[in-house]
Amino acid sequence: MHIKEHHQNMRLGIISALHEEQAGLVEAMERPSRLIHGMREYFLGQLWEIDAVCVLSRIGKVAAAMTATTLVEKFGVTHILFTGVAGAGDNTVRVGDIVIAESLVQHDMDASPLFPRFEVPLIGRSHFQPNLELSMRLLGAAHDFLELDFPEAIRNEDRHDFGLEQPRVHRGLIASGDQFVNDRQRLQALNGALPGLVAVEMEGAAVAQVCHELDVPFAVIRAISDNANENAAHDFMRFVKSVAAQYAFYITRRLCRDLQQSPPQPRTESADT
Ligand code: ADE
Repeated sequence: MHIKEHHQNMRLGIISALHEEQAGLVEAMERPSRLIHGMREYFLGQLWEIDAVCVLSRIGKVAAAMTATTLVEKFGVTHILFTGVAGAGDNTVRVGDIVIAESLVQHDMDASPLFPRFEVPLIGRSHFQPNLELSMRLLGAAHDFLELDFPEAIRNEDRHDFGLEQPRVHRGLIASGDQFVNDRQRLQALNGALPGLVAVEMEGAAVAQVCHELDVPFAVIRAISDNANENAAHDFMRFVKSVAAQYAFYITRRLCRDLQQSPPQPRTESADT
């Protein structure tokens, strides 16, 4: 059976939207080198013995799509992980919870009546699925983080201020759009139109479309920073600095160690992403 060459050695691209979320990972890189391309800094090196490339996409779908494409085409990554924050997409999801994408949709894509609402025209689909194996490993890393690392990782003061009592992990639908959602009614409308919605953010589904088109396995993990309502912007920046950065660091460390111990199976031509 023919096995695609680029899957034999794993190289993990790690995208975040904000500097604060990625600073710890870049610091942890061994033998790092820095390359500037297309107005972005790419950090190449080893993260817990996994060959990795870290980059800030900045915010929004175009920025994320450009970054994902460059990671694959120029830096030869074989897998992509997006780590970041999101607004809660449902009232069962709380600030401090972790969301792992089971599926992603671009909530501001609407070429109706030519195509059904949310469908990416001429691709024939609205929802994009991340790689199952990578997502399951991420799920394990997130659970272990909450169970084992949380007391060490998060200061009591932050736990108290953000009401992080018993954070949970959810797997479900993430909706991305070029809009910071800070309006209860807008969120309710999205939640009604997109069954199973767990989080709203601004990049994941763009990375998902690029990875679908380029046939690259990917996964998306988000810490919930706000309730996508009128208080969203107020909570956001402090949460990113003091909480989300820690989540990203500890969970990525657990994921890399897991990948190092048992590398993913090489994919065959016929395998699903
Ligand atoms: N990222 C974090 N919170 C968000 C929100 N409320 N809307 C969109 N993206 C977000």
